[in-house]
Amino acid sequence: MRETKTMPVQSDLTYTPAAGHHWLTPFYDFGVAALTREHRWRTVLIAQVHPSPGDVIVDVGCGTGSLLVRLGKAAASAQLVGIDPDPAVLTLARKRVAAAGLAVELHVGFARQVAELLEGRQPTKVVSSLVFHQVPMEEKVAALAAMHAALGVGGEIHIADYGLQRTPLMRALFRGVIQNLDGCANTEPNARGVLPDLMHSAGFRHVEETIVIPTLSGSISLYRGSCSS
Ligand SMILES: C[S@@+](CC[C@H](N)C(=O)[O-])C[C@H]1O[C@@H](n2cnc3c(N)ncnc32)[C@H](O)[C@@H]1O
Repeated sequence: MRETKTMPVQSDLTYTPAAGHHWLTPFYDFGVAALTREHRWRTVLIAQVHPSPGDVIVDVGCGTGSLLVRLGKAAASAQLVGIDPDPAVLTLARKRVAAAGLAVELHVGFARQVAELLEGRQPTKVVSSLVFHQVPMEEKVAALAAMHAALGVGGEIHIADYGLQRTPLMRALFRGVIQNLDGCANTEPNARGVLPDLMHSAGFRHVEETIVIPTLSGSISLYRGSCSS
């Protein structure tokens, strides 16, 4: 595995840690398993991404590395890169990918820095799970623009995150769990279904919500899009 690279970040950029508070990070994986039907949505996401030999796949906001390990198991020869601004969560990711025997490049950095962190290499696919609901609107927009800029023609984006909460039950669960942990300001636009429009505005085409999965913490939507120019 390559050394973790630390990117100088703009001093005004902050982030919400994986489980909402730094002290909860050690319990993040347990919480995701218990509250999000994790096996279900990660399995569908991996099938959608369809990792293949020759792919260069960047996991933006990779957290503890759960998705990277599944991607690596699905296509051992794909090149995998994980990016996250939280050095503590990357320490957990580093241990997890090493235990799985995978070679994964990990970088400390924000989603908007994805192109700089790749230093000119062009990924074939960018993926992101459970990140966009945690970031401010300005970062959602900047992140999608950076992902689009990093991908070449034919490149794909795959996102799994809390999306439009369509029923009173899903709305109540989302409010009770996710908005309690992460606050309302960053999460509410996701619950109102903003992501497909933002993806389209960033330049992605063939944007679609491919599945909506009800969970104990609100519904999780999978999205995809591609770069046509
Ligand atoms: C809820 S966790 C999801 C982790 C992982 N993707 C998963 O599926 O388990 C959100 C992650 O996004 C990271 N994050 C927060 N703000 C970010 C940003 N602006 N750019 C990239 N990652 C960010 C957090 O540090 C955290 O690890």
